[in-house]
Amino acid sequence: MTTTGEGIQGEGALEAGGTTPRFEPAGLQHAHRLLGPRVAYLIGSIRLDGTSHLCSATNVTSVGNSPEIVAVALCPEWETAENLRREGEMTINLMDSLYVDQIWIAGSRYSGVEVAPSDDKFIVAGLHKKMSATVRPAAVLEALAVLECRTVRIVEDLSDHTVFFAEVIAACYRSTYFTEEGQLDVVQAHPAMQLSGDRFAHAVPAGSPDTRRCNQIVKDNRSGREGGPAAPESSTVI
Ligand SMILES: Cc1cc2nc3c(=O)[nH]c(=O)nc-3n(C[C@H](O)[C@H](O)[C@H](O)COP(=O)(O)O)c2cc1C
Repeated sequence: MTTTGEGIQGEGALEAGGTTPRFEPAGLQHAHRLLGPRVAYLIGSIRLDGTSHLCSATNVTSVGNSPEIVAVALCPEWETAENLRREGEMTINLMDSLYVDQIWIAGSRYSGVEVAPSDDKFIVAGLHKKMSATVRPAAVLEALAVLECRTVRIVEDLSDHTVFFAEVIAACYRSTYFTEEGQLDVVQAHPAMQLSGDRFAHAVPAGSPDTRRCNQIVKDNRSGREGGPAAPESSTVI
């Protein structure tokens, strides 16, 4: 099928090696895995007894910049979801992939690591508490960066996860691993990203897009000339 008028191509679209790409249908219950590796954060919250608690989450993303709003989706049964409903404050901690075991421990109800409800997950994971500047939950001292957030909206009726929309009210990062503009140096630091289950990956530098080259590609393709997208040059600039 080729519907070039709408730019939809079937058998005509070739992969780099000249073969036609084959797409397999995926089970919808696993469709979220097709979003690719997703960064696994540690979420800090406040327990009923006032101490700080941790859980792991990959359902975390920025959804607005002014004000800075993030969304975190959690199973309503998790203690962290209860803590957030009650206290409305959290820390979001970006962890290096050196800490996959700690992420696995903090995600015990999913990973099966034997953590008791009475355990302090900071202690059993061997992580240290960092006092937050603006919220009650502690941050993780070993984190690469921390967002301190206050819940502004909770959506319970969308799916099986409760979505917490939260405003970022303070943020900090380890200057060793970030540029002055707050960009992570992925040569030095590799945030843990979950593929699915216990399979993790981490980021490496990719080529940077070049606006001039892209303008040329757009022009060439618009006028129907051959040449296709150029392969990005490898670069360590991030
Ligand atoms: C890598 C990883 C990512 C996870 N992501 C999520 C998530 O996005 N949402 C969620 O509800 N649970 C997620 N979990 C599961 C929770 O972290 C886990 O059930 C945890 O034990 C809940 O802790 P709590 O009940 O003490 O709050 C994840 C677990 C792991 C290991």
